[in-house]
Amino acid sequence: MENVIVVNNPILQTSLTKIRDKNLKSSLVRKHLSVIGKILLTQALKDEETYLKEVETQFSKGDFPTLKEDNYVIVPILRAGLPMMDGCLEILEEAKVGFLAIKRDEETLESKVYYERLPNLKDKTVIVVDPMVATGGSLIKAIEIIKSHNPKKIISLNVIASKIGIEKVSNHKDVLFYVGSVDEKLNDKGYIVPGIGDAGDRCFNTE
Ligand code: PRP
Ligand code: URA
Repeated sequence: MENVIVVNNPILQTSLTKIRDKNLKSSLVRKHLSVIGKILLTQALKDEETYLKEVETQFSKGDFPTLKEDNYVIVPILRAGLPMMDGCLEILEEAKVGFLAIKRDEETLESKVYYERLPNLKDKTVIVVDPMVATGGSLIKAIEIIKSHNPKKIISLNVIASKIGIEKVSNHKDVLFYVGSVDEKLNDKGYIVPGIGDAGDRCFNTE
C-alpha cells in the first residue's frame, strides 16, 4: 500500500490516545480531532509547490513563498469530519469547502449519501477528511463522487483505519491516504477495535 502513509507524529499520537479514552468529553474529542487534522494536513502538504508573493514588511518589500490556498478544497464527510475540517481551515484559511453527508446503515453497514454540496473541483486539490475508515464503504463513495468532478489530486486524511478498510480504499492508487493509526479489526457491528467508538456520537454528544 504505497499510497498509505501512517503518520507517527508524537503530538498526533498523544491526541489520538486521549480520544481513545471513552470518557473524554465531546468538546475535547472535537479539539483533538482538529489537532490531528492539522498534523495530517501538515504532513500531506509538506512537499507542495509554493509561489512567491510580494509582501511589504515593516522594513522592505520582498517576494516570499506561500501556498495557493484557494486551489485546495476541503471536503468533510458529515458528521464526524467536521472537527478535522476546522483544524484544516485554521491552516488553509483561503481554502474552499465542499460537503458530503454519508451515513452507514447500522444493520447492513451500507453507506448512503444524503447530502452533497461541492464547489467546482476541476483542477483543484481535494482534501477529504473523515476520522474513521471502518469497512471503507463511506470513503469509497466519497472518492467516487469527488473523482467524477475531475479534480487535479485527491488526498484523504483519516485518524484511524481498520486493516481491511485501508486495504480496500487504497485500491484507489491515485489517492494518497494519510492516517494516524491502522487498527487491528472490526467488531461484529462494524466498529473499529480498539478504535475510538462511534466518532460522530463522540463528537456531538449523541448516542
Ligand atoms: C462513520 C465515520 C465514517 C464511517 C466509516 O460515520 O465517520 O464516515 O462511519 O465507516 P465505513 O468505513 O464502514 O463506511 P457514520 O456513518 O457513523 O455517520 P456519522 O458521522 O453521522 O455518525
Ligand atoms: N464509524 C465510527 O464512527 N466508528 C467506527 O469504529 C466505525 C465506523
